[in-house]
Amino acid sequence: MVCTEKALMDFGIATQVVAALEKAGLTVLVYDKCVADAPSRICDEGVVFARENKVDGIVAVGGGSTIDTGKAIDLVLSMGGTTIADYYHVAEPEHKVKIIAIPTTSGTGSENTPCAVICDAVTGRKEIPIFRADLALADPVLTYTVPAKVTAATGLDVLAHCAEAITNRNYNAYANIVAKEGIRLTMKYLKTACEKPKNVEAREKMALAANLGGQAIAETGCSIGHSFSQTFGAMNHIPHGLGCAWALPSCMTYTAKYGRREDLAETADAMGVAYKDSDDAMVIAKAISDVLVAFMKELGVVSIKDMGYTLEDCLKSADLFQYDAAFANAPGKPSVEEAREYIKDTYFIYQ
Ligand SMILES: [Fe+2]
Repeated sequence: MVCTEKALMDFGIATQVVAALEKAGLTVLVYDKCVADAPSRICDEGVVFARENKVDGIVAVGGGSTIDTGKAIDLVLSMGGTTIADYYHVAEPEHKVKIIAIPTTSGTGSENTPCAVICDAVTGRKEIPIFRADLALADPVLTYTVPAKVTAATGLDVLAHCAEAITNRNYNAYANIVAKEGIRLTMKYLKTACEKPKNVEAREKMALAANLGGQAIAETGCSIGHSFSQTFGAMNHIPHGLGCAWALPSCMTYTAKYGRREDLAETADAMGVAYKDSDDAMVIAKAISDVLVAFMKELGVVSIKDMGYTLEDCLKSADLFQYDAAFANAPGKPSVEEAREYIKDTYFIYQ
């Protein structure tokens, strides 16, 4: 079963995968109902479709939500159940059906992460069941037709994964090395990938950067920036990468409140941000934040305010942070009041 999005069939992207599988002699069924935010209902419908058709393998072709939907379908099939809602918090089962992930954006790194981000139909919350792809095929050719705005947002998600992996509570030397390379590649190639969509080198490097970002957060998880993107984003159907981009500059200054100087310095070094060897974590965080804001402007990223949201709209997500999986990784043990302060910073830092 090719698990994909209707637009990727219409524009001849997923059809290339279908053709390759058929050429190899396989019978292919297409489930093309995947949409942004990976709603649990779409996962459950996919389970019914797969089971009715005795599917014995899944190839997920698409952005992060589509790969996550494929993983969720596979998880339910492997557990022998009917709804992903029953399996948000179980240990990863043995894969009864193998799954190959083929990303068509360079962003989430979902092809490489051990989990899926699913939007629950009842609570509206983002849930994170554990399941990983058996094989990932990241082919930058499939990203050539991604529009500039989506390239920018997904690329900034890569930056968020890498910077949040370095600066959250779960220090991991291996993840740091991987994340720093992801940051370096993104700072060097994202603008070109936006401006010249068929630039082979830029697309290839961004596909690699996304993969590295996924690898980094597979080790450490994300931080408070993703908590904003995953709560406010779920409430308002904001593209994940865009929410992560808004949330990242303030994530750096939030981190500095807990004095994470070395982590911030490593992030700044990877980004090429000058901070004159300052000992002050906040000085380094502000230098990173300034560069991020300028970079986002250069890429034409719209602000929260320009999207029509008020600060009050944003603050409504503060109570939900505690339910977000990334929140526990944030430095400190943020209270709701601290989450509100963080949201205020997020709102005003990029306008
Ligand atoms: Fe992300």
